[in-house]
Amino acid sequence: MKMTRLYLSNDTSSLAAGAGRLADAWNERPEVQLIRTSSRGAFFLEPMVERDMLNGREAWFNVTPEDLPRIVGGIGGTPVTKLPFLQQQTRCTFANFGITEPLALDAYQMKGGMKGLTAAWNLSPQAIVEELHISRLRGRGGAAFPVWKKWQVAQLIEAEQKYVVANADEGDAGTYCDRMVMEGDPFRLIEGMLICARAIGATRGYIYCRYEYPAAARTMKFAIQKALEAGLLDFDDYPFDLEVVVGAGSYVCGEETALLESLEGRRGVVLAKPPYPAESGLYGKPTVVSNVLTFASIPNILAKGGAWHAALGTEGSCGTMALQLGGRVKQPGLVEVPFGLTLREVLDRFGGGMAIGSRFKAVQVGGPLGSLFPESQLDIPICYDAFANAGAILGHGGIVVYDQETDMVELARHFMAFTADESCGKCTPCRIGSVRGREILERIQSGQGTAEDLILLSDLGETMKTASLCALGGRAPYPVETAIEHFGEEFRQGAKFASRA
Ligand SMILES: Cc1cc2nc3c(=O)[nH]c(=O)nc-3n(C[C@H](O)[C@H](O)[C@H](O)COP(=O)(O)O)c2cc1C
Repeated sequence: MKMTRLYLSNDTSSLAAGAGRLADAWNERPEVQLIRTSSRGAFFLEPMVERDMLNGREAWFNVTPEDLPRIVGGIGGTPVTKLPFLQQQTRCTFANFGITEPLALDAYQMKGGMKGLTAAWNLSPQAIVEELHISRLRGRGGAAFPVWKKWQVAQLIEAEQKYVVANADEGDAGTYCDRMVMEGDPFRLIEGMLICARAIGATRGYIYCRYEYPAAARTMKFAIQKALEAGLLDFDDYPFDLEVVVGAGSYVCGEETALLESLEGRRGVVLAKPPYPAESGLYGKPTVVSNVLTFASIPNILAKGGAWHAALGTEGSCGTMALQLGGRVKQPGLVEVPFGLTLREVLDRFGGGMAIGSRFKAVQVGGPLGSLFPESQLDIPICYDAFANAGAILGHGGIVVYDQETDMVELARHFMAFTADESCGKCTPCRIGSVRGREILERIQSGQGTAEDLILLSDLGETMKTASLCALGGRAPYPVETAIEHFGEEFRQGAKFASRA
């Protein structure tokens, strides 16, 4: 019997949407050969099944097990290249997604993988850093620090031991692109880390993966084993040891100093900076800590040249950004585009507008510490400078849309409570301030608020912003303050609050 080869994503989000059910139903079917790929990131279409046709791949959407005859018969498919959600993206870091099998090293190499590493081997460590300088790549983990500067600091310090650490703690609500990289294109992360190791002279690397990502940790471990067997971790004069370490479920362990504390086996507590990890990090040695997406962006830069990267995006924000759309949009999913589109363009073009029955109320960008934007502010360009000028953060690119059903007082309380739960406790503004902030919001919520409570929240916010040790306390007031700024009426309606004010 002629077998039809079908491609089905094995990504966690695809599985949540039902891809596993298809695999269970079709695995034993003699007429199909199932290839488990990464996901295209069009989660609203999952489970999505693809097959090769004469003019390239065609796809079937929201597939159920009963759709098999239709797919095998080649009936009703859509050419993948004609999908507007994908067509309008600039896939660079996510170019392989939905196409390759995550653990097939040969497929990765056939798609241009390891070309960046080869290029790096032909350059001096200084020239690698210079290429990154030209590229103007900024860290994608949130702080947007120029990558080359961090690498240069670590490179210039003489030390018998240096480390490369991938921050895979990805705790921001509404973000998932690091998970997708680790589950879907793990060799890209390894390649980026190897290039960094070569540039700074590191002999050990760690991938600090959040506890809630078991599939990502598993895939990374397999990929490291394969890379090891293929000799990719053998440098000329020393082997590079790479290991996956799983965190214990703490948000603050995403902060780089807390992460390194945790990696050393201590409680994840934020440390004062300087010294920065690049000078004195893991076990006091020079350590480059970068986000997964940052490392995954590097192979293309070395393979295509820094100038290629610098030409994408805007003056201050070069390259592409992996935006992760979630919440009440019609089309949640991963969108890789050059910086510079407005928030409105992204929501309309890729989000497809609001989900049925939903009216737009606000959008939060940058995770639980990100500001809320009302409809009137959607024309802000997605780039670091415009966001910084608006007092907002792009963070790790999470975009969560809220609709008319969202209670803004509850949302503000939720985020303050989140900080209170996740604070490492090292500094008073964050440890105590977040609890007091939560209490004030609960008072307003219960109708016991007074006009002074809003003033108190504002004062408290100022203290937290200026005196917290890290951005957990320092940014926690932003979602609360922007909720009050744009939806103040809901706060004033706190029953007695309104009458006493
Ligand atoms: C509370 C808190 C949580 C953070 N969580 C993460 C995270 O999950 N992943 C990440 O890459 N960076 C996170 N960061 C930022 C890191 O401290 C650090 O800036 C980043 O890992 C550097 O990598 P990059 O230069 O590639 O952005 C967090 C920072 C704070 C203050």
